[in-house]
Amino acid sequence: MRSRTLPIGLAACLTSTVLHAELSGDDYLGGGTIQDATERARVQAVIDAERQREAERAETLARERAQEEARREAERAAEAARRPQGEVLTETYCGACHAPEMLQSARHTGLGWTLTIARMRWLNGARIPPEDAGRIRAHLARTQPADPARAIVEYGLAGLSALLPVAWALRRWSRRSSATDRSPREPDT
Ligand code: HEC
Repeated sequence: MRSRTLPIGLAACLTSTVLHAELSGDDYLGGGTIQDATERARVQAVIDAERQREAERAETLARERAQEEARREAERAAEAARRPQGEVLTETYCGACHAPEMLQSARHTGLGWTLTIARMRWLNGARIPPEDAGRIRAHLARTQPADPARAIVEYGLAGLSALLPVAWALRRWSRRSSATDRSPREPDT
């Protein structure tokens, strides 16, 4: 019994080894490599095509963006051309230091604007060419005038400050004349 099972076992073992070798042999690998090469080429072609499409999409997007930017730029230029020059100048020069809301909320008489702009230029260091300062003043005086109460205060103060030198001169004059009047009557000491 034993002497018969051994050869059978050996044969079975050999057969299984040969079968196994056949399945995982060079033929199998070789065939697989060829298939992989075609598959790889096909996948590569798909990737290349996708890349190409992606590049085209990016190009189209960039072109559209540039067009959109140019359109907006033209719109801005047209808008600036439509707006009154004084408004643009105010925004350019006064906007360097002030928020638009602050500027738009300020109200002055023509005189008040003249003095305010002069103060900005001479005390606060605003660099505004004189002819542009004149245009800004005209624009602000027209679009942001003072209400009557403020107008009275501004012109009242201006009138007072104009009167001050006159009052001072009058006082000096009256003092001097009263001094000359008094001097002959003053007793000698
Ligand atoms: C270099 C900065 C600078 C620029 C440019 C400038 N300002 Fe001023 N502005 C100031 C400072 C600082 C003050 C606060 C001190 C003062 O009132 O003088 C002020 C205050 C003001 C005020 C509030 C006081 C008030 O009198 O009502 C107004 C309004 C004003 N500025 C308008 C203008 C206008 C209009 C322009 C453009 C013509 C202008 N500013 C440009 C610096 C600037």
